[in-house]
Amino acid sequence: MCYNCGPSRRSFATLLAAGVGMAALAACTPDNRVATPTSTPSPSGPAPTPAAATTTAAPSAAPSDQPPSGAPPSKAPSAALSQQFSHSDPASQWVIVNKHRPLSPLQFVPADLVRPRVQLAVSGEASLLNSTTATAAEKLFAAATSAGVTLTLASGYRSFQTQTATYNGYASTRGQASADTASARPGFSEHQTGWAFDIGDGGGACSFEPCFADQPAAVWAKANAYKFGFVVRYPWMLNDVTGYYYEPWHLRFIGVEAATDMSKRGIGTLEEYFGLEAAPGYL
Ligand code: DAL
Ligand code: ZN
Repeated sequence: MCYNCGPSRRSFATLLAAGVGMAALAACTPDNRVATPTSTPSPSGPAPTPAAATTTAAPSAAPSDQPPSGAPPSKAPSAALSQQFSHSDPASQWVIVNKHRPLSPLQFVPADLVRPRVQLAVSGEASLLNSTTATAAEKLFAAATSAGVTLTLASGYRSFQTQTATYNGYASTRGQASADTASARPGFSEHQTGWAFDIGDGGGACSFEPCFADQPAAVWAKANAYKFGFVVRYPWMLNDVTGYYYEPWHLRFIGVEAATDMSKRGIGTLEEYFGLEAAPGYL
């Protein structure tokens, strides 16, 4: 029963936490809606501190929004949700990034990176999120504090370049096969979208370690994150679908309505929820 374990896990955690400030300014924010919405979900709350971002045009083949013919039937009537969003646009809160679905463009940079007002365990680039996720994270962290639980932002946005260094560091110490169970290749990480981040608990003993699953921060997040629009993206024992071992620290924003629906229905992965094919390995 090995989840994301290995002797060099902690050294990789250090690498993950090493945020590099690489900001540049973006020209536009793509509209991420795809179906007749009347309003864009923009969580209210204090505006996060603006930071910078760049959009790099380096298009690659855009994955289709349509479930492939061999895909399992969707477990959720996502069409019944009040708003629908693209699974391909990296600026969409429903973008699906996995080993079958690279970002398009591959070197995408969110146009609205900001630093959330939460307890930070990192600085620079790694302390940034896209603005919607940042606002939701502020609510999540505040609720945790009210419940007596400490959460820290341990790794947020990662540029294509940072993910390259992160993945290569992993591969050089563990080998590529092992690296691929824990770290996304550049262009294949949710962290590059700004919609995902890793949490810590301020203690560090179990940071990015399997034992983090039993820490109050992870237990609380697993039970409550959906109320703020987040899912634990890489759940226990679902690596055949997600391609990654359990990461109780990795939260992904999809919106309160969809996250609540997933939670109520007991659906563990975004692939299953949206009826997209499992992505256990790279194509
Ligand atoms: N650890 C996750 C899979 C990432 O590298 O994006
Ligand atoms: Zn992560």
